[in-house]
Amino acid sequence: MSAVVETKRVTVPEIRAHKNAKPVVCLTCYHAHTARLLDNHVDLMLVGDSLGMVMHGMDNTLGVTLDMMITHGKAVMRGSRHALVVVDMPFGSYEESPQVAFRNAARVIQETGCTAVKMEGGKRIAETVRYLSERGIPVMGHIGLTPQMIQVMGGFKTQGRTEAEWPAIEADAKAVAEAGAFAIVLEGMAEPLAVKITREIQVPTIGIGASAECDGQILVMEDMLGLNPNPPKFVRRYANLGPDIETAVKAYAKDVRERAFPGKENVYSMKKTA
Ligand code: KIV
Repeated sequence: MSAVVETKRVTVPEIRAHKNAKPVVCLTCYHAHTARLLDNHVDLMLVGDSLGMVMHGMDNTLGVTLDMMITHGKAVMRGSRHALVVVDMPFGSYEESPQVAFRNAARVIQETGCTAVKMEGGKRIAETVRYLSERGIPVMGHIGLTPQMIQVMGGFKTQGRTEAEWPAIEADAKAVAEAGAFAIVLEGMAEPLAVKITREIQVPTIGIGASAECDGQILVMEDMLGLNPNPPKFVRRYANLGPDIETAVKAYAKDVRERAFPGKENVYSMKKTA
């Protein structure tokens, strides 16, 4: 008789309970094999719309569609059993109205089986965060550098460099937290401001290029594994997989060209034992 191993997924209240307790470990993830590798080591996996750039070679995230997010969300859910999976709402899928956002987010939840969605923006999306949270869709916020606003911001720029900018960004954090977001990503934010916001709001802040004092951290997995030749400056590399893959492919190409590739022997040995 085979034993059935059931692993309960991390829940939204469990992530919220990390506040003032222990750091939340998060990474982005876009496909099943890597989801399996990450699953026992992270609390939360984000199927980020950064997949447009990382997986699909786009220049920015604006061309990412809801269907792309659902396809990758399904893959990550199939590859994982433990971590809480959050899927990003792509540009154009939630800004119009809370009702449109609900319909699209419900599709993401129903078709992927993920637990929650993430949306970029502060005060301007607070009403939508409340609308979804009150109707059963947990929302993760995302403020500071919000890549979907790249055309308005004129590039990927650290937010809150001058103290004059702080009140508006703090107001964004408070608005999204009070509307019901269960955690908030602080991306590309001046360190003292990220620390201040982390102290001011009641839900975990998840930093990326913000501060080590945030309640958790997230990185794009391909950046920290060394697969991106030009990662953002703040990224610490934990592996050098880009050069490792190239070395392996070079060795494989040599074997094939020298006819040293062992596939043929395997076929014969299979025939013998048949
Ligand atoms: O899309 C993404 O990967 C993100 C993270 C960088 C937070 O939003």
